[in-house]
Parts: sequence; structure tokens; C-alpha cells
Amino acid sequence: MSTAVPTPIDHSARYRQHLRACGFQAKPASAWDARAAQSSWKRRHDDYSEAFLARLDLSGVDTALDVGCGPGLLSLPIAMRVGHVHALDYSAGMLEGLRAAINRDGASNITPWALSWTDDWHDVPRCDLAIASRSLMVPDLEAALHKLDAHARQRACITFATSPRAGVPELADLLGRDWVPMPDHRYPINMLLDMGREPQVDYLPESVRDVAQDADGLVRQTVELFGALDVDEEARVREWHARSPQHRFGTAPTRRWAFIQWATSE
Ligand SMILES: C[S@@+](CC[C@H](N)C(=O)[O-])C[C@H]1O[C@@H](n2cnc3c(N)ncnc32)[C@H](O)[C@@H]1O
Repeated sequence: MSTAVPTPIDHSARYRQHLRACGFQAKPASAWDARAAQSSWKRRHDDYSEAFLARLDLSGVDTALDVGCGPGLLSLPIAMRVGHVHALDYSAGMLEGLRAAINRDGASNITPWALSWTDDWHDVPRCDLAIASRSLMVPDLEAALHKLDAHARQRACITFATSPRAGVPELADLLGRDWVPMPDHRYPINMLLDMGREPQVDYLPESVRDVAQDADGLVRQTVELFGALDVDEEARVREWHARSPQHRFGTAPTRRWAFIQWATSE
């Protein structure tokens, strides 16, 4: 008896199923507004942007599109090396941060766009390069990848989490909570292959953990992640915090990111 060829995998459907299993709710733009106001955003994310920019191929790039640009951690340094950057974000707070940074640095070649992944990008010029850094936790990942690809004449580049934030699986174990990790970089890589692209994958080093996190901060973060804690659970989290700095996690982006870039077509 001959063995049948396996049926093709619908990565997009599996991604949507995975999001449902996690109880994923798309964040409204307002959820990002408050984060933009954190003055320490830049300092905390410096390791990440350095690692990202070291891998980004800007050869032959005159125009770049930065989708989900935030306060411009990448748009600003990229603008120093190319002719023009179009920086797109749906959060008014993030764009306010970007405008402040543009004024501070006197950058005259960045155009902010208040748009989301699902809006019409008709007015946004197609660029040589399009990037989406840490901004792809969207309900329809395949559509977003197609959109980014179509807006890039030469190359596109994304980062996507390879794993949950450091400390979260350990905390879930400690509390005996059910918890499903979010979809990881395997989904976009497979979707890009299905799109006929050749994704080149690299991995950014994990940032140093924020060992300055105090016990109260950890308890607050645990409640945000897993909901209310009873007295015994809170005591366990505090003990865990006291036991070893290795186990603490703070507000720094302590997760490993895959850096994925590919050539698009003219
Ligand atoms: C973690 S921040 C990353 C910012 C920047 N790209 C970086 O790597 O430093 C995610 C950004 O994506 C934006 N974002 C999230 N979902 C979006 C959507 N559906 N449309 C447009 N922007 C979105 C958020 O407002 C936020 O500025």
C-alpha cells in the first residue's frame, strides 16, 4: 500500500486557532497610548534596537516604511541612513512620542502616519524597505505579512517572538495556572514560505534581565498576567522573588526575538 502525501498545512488557520486557544484579544490603540508615556522606553529597549539595526540590510535603500513604529526607536536611527522614513502606528500616544523625538533630533525626513494594520494604506508610498518590529500580534497575521510585502519594493523585515517573556512559564508553574504561550516565529516563517518568499532567520540576543524589579512590582505583573492571587499565592510569588535574582522579571523586553528578512518583488 502506498503512503499518501500529507495534506498541506494551513498555517493561517492554525495561527488563528492558536490565538483563540490563548484567549487572545486584539489590543485597542489606547492600550499602547499609556505605554508610550513611559519615559524609560528608550533606555530599556536600547539593547534590542542595537541588535536589530546591526542586522538590518539598508544597502540600496532610499525609502523605508516602519509599521507599528512606536516612539521611533528604529525610525529615527534608520532616518539618519536613508532618504525618507514613513512611520506608521495606530496609537496616538506612540505617535506623539515619535513627534517629540523628531523635534528633539531635528529629523526632517520622517513622516508619521496614524494608521493601523487593517486600515487602507493607499496614501502611504511604497518604499524600498518595509519593517515591522515587535508589532505583529494581530488577528490576521497572513494578511499583515502580505500587506508589508506588497509595500516593499526590495526587502521586508520583521521580528517575532520565539518564546514567552522570561519568567512567565516559571510563574505559571509556581501558581499551577493553565497558561498557553502565544504563537511564535514558526508561524510567520511558514507563511512566508507559502507566499513563495525565502525568509532569512537570525536571532537577537536576549536582553539582560531587570533584576532591579522589586517584589511588589512582580506581584502586580503576576496579577496582570494571571488574574487575582489569594494570600497563599501571593506569598509564593514573594518567596520566589526572594529566592533568586535569576527568577525575577521586570519591564525590560526579556524574550528572544527572531529577526526575519526576505526579498520582495518589484
Ligand atoms: C512593542 S511596540 C514596538 C515599537 C517599535 N516597532 C519597536 O520595536 O520599538 C508595538 C507597536 O505596535 C503598534 N501596533 C500594535 N498593533 C497595531 C496595529 N494593529 N496597527 C498599527 N500599529 C500597531 C503599537 O501601537 C506599538 O507602538
